[in-house]
Amino acid sequence: MGVYGVIGFPVSQSMSPIMHNQEFQALQMDAYYTAFAVHPSQLEQAIEGIRALHIKGINVTIPHKVAVIDYLDEIDEEARLIGAVNTIKNENGRLIGSNTDGEGYLRSLLFLSKAPLATKKVLVVGAGGAARAIVIAIARHGVQKIDIANRTISKAEQLVKHANQFVAGSAISIHDAEEHLSEYDIVINTTSVGMSPHVTDSPLQVHNLKRGTIVSDLIYNPLTTLFLKQAKERGALIDNGVGMFVHQGALAFEKWTGISPNLERMTKTVLNELGG
Ligand code: ATR
Repeated sequence: MGVYGVIGFPVSQSMSPIMHNQEFQALQMDAYYTAFAVHPSQLEQAIEGIRALHIKGINVTIPHKVAVIDYLDEIDEEARLIGAVNTIKNENGRLIGSNTDGEGYLRSLLFLSKAPLATKKVLVVGAGGAARAIVIAIARHGVQKIDIANRTISKAEQLVKHANQFVAGSAISIHDAEEHLSEYDIVINTTSVGMSPHVTDSPLQVHNLKRGTIVSDLIYNPLTTLFLKQAKERGALIDNGVGMFVHQGALAFEKWTGISPNLERMTKTVLNELGG
């Protein structure tokens, strides 16, 4: 049997086990996926354990995505640029790290947009780990520009500098982003602002949003944040964090097994879990 899993701390709330196991079952694969709570002080031993136990693939979540890099044999280009790993593949004892978060978001965005992104102006709100993955993936894919707005502007400046090797764009304040919101074709919230239980908070005021803008929120709890609700009221095409979550999982599944999972079925499983 192929054993797979996710390491994190805490990790009990992860929807990855049910999403992957449903897919293994549906495809009649002899495989099982489970969640391992790994304390940060035992990360190195846990990674050694992957080799010893012949675990075929592991997802990595908070707080291990950056620290895990030190214990792997190789990381791919995307993971190197993002500076974080969310997927490990065990190739005969050689552990290879990659990052499917950004590409997962990009695939979900391309599905929604249905039009090429080359001429699009993108605003990313937030400059943490999630923003980094998304900005790198979109920048490498190619858009007209990516501006980054963040509460702490110095963090936005750092991320912009990194992205500028692939794409144009500037760091701006949240206030300026709100003032100039009508300039953007795609607006993405990568912060945790609006996540349950703080459902009455919003990362950005949307008065100046133009109709038809794609507005994404990486949050999926609640499924529709206040930010998305307000954006929809202004005629935006809205998208929650389920798409990115499912696509990042599907990309990991493909890397490990060489088999493309059924995205619709995976989405249904996740929505079921979330009670949507
Ligand atoms: P993640 O890996 O989920 O992206 P992170 O790296 O801790 O998490 O980044 C969190 C992001 O959300 C940051 O951009 C953070 O802004 P700061 O850089 O100013 O800290 C943003 N964020 C979190 N809580 C926030 C709040 N209450 N108001 C505004 N921004 C917030």
